[in-house]
Amino acid sequence: MRDFILAANWKMHKTPKESAAFFRDFLPALKAGSGNRRVIFFVPATNMVTSEEATRGSTVELGAQNVHSEVKGAFTGETSVETVKAIGAKWALVGHSERRTLFHETDADAAKKVKAGLAAGLDVMLCIGETLAEREAGKTMDVVRRQLERGLELVAGDTVKSQPKRISIAYEPVWAIGTGKVATPEQASEVHQFLRKTMTELYGAASANAITILYGGSAKADNVASLVAQKDIDGFLVGGASLEVASFSALIENAKPKT
Ligand code: PGA
Repeated sequence: MRDFILAANWKMHKTPKESAAFFRDFLPALKAGSGNRRVIFFVPATNMVTSEEATRGSTVELGAQNVHSEVKGAFTGETSVETVKAIGAKWALVGHSERRTLFHETDADAAKKVKAGLAAGLDVMLCIGETLAEREAGKTMDVVRRQLERGLELVAGDTVKSQPKRISIAYEPVWAIGTGKVATPEQASEVHQFLRKTMTELYGAASANAITILYGGSAKADNVASLVAQKDIDGFLVGGASLEVASFSALIENAKPKT
């Protein structure tokens, strides 16, 4: 059975103190889920140490929002995979649309980061998704296929085949991120099913069926139930609604995995 993942992307929000306060309230509110549910927080790297202390002994997992593709070197301002792992990250988020649009990251950059994260022992969540212009031009499937295939191209022959559960895909239509405009269950499901089919074709059915595909883009407590009822939607990557304990706890509660 593949993992059902609820992931928070805190972006550039919260100080270490605010992160600790969040977890203090959130952990007691986190009700036991089924065995395949994972709850992950992509926290600012500066808050990893405090977040690790605050979540130690719980089932919550932590991840970095971005990593550099080289292990070390003259890369002023960047954060290495080894460092985030050493201070508590289990995951690396790669290729988020804000990294792609605001920081000009390419599919080739994403591919190198996926490889570096996995090599360091981190699990990796690769984000993909089309812009509004691409959707309106009827290019959604071409875009997500390209981002998926290129993003995983350096690991397709090994980790994707041998350890597919270490990789998750977050489908986030760019037009839905932070806009309050959520994809309809049909729109999301169409892409998720296309991604599963594409992965089956590229990596084989066993790997494709083990890989979690999350939806992201204005996911909230009041819209996740209809999305999760769709085929191939295996969780959520959540920005805005993950910042408050009440909104994220309610979202988790309403996004009960399919049994
Ligand atoms: P949002 O962000 O939930 O605020 O739309 C999602 C994301 O960027 O991962």
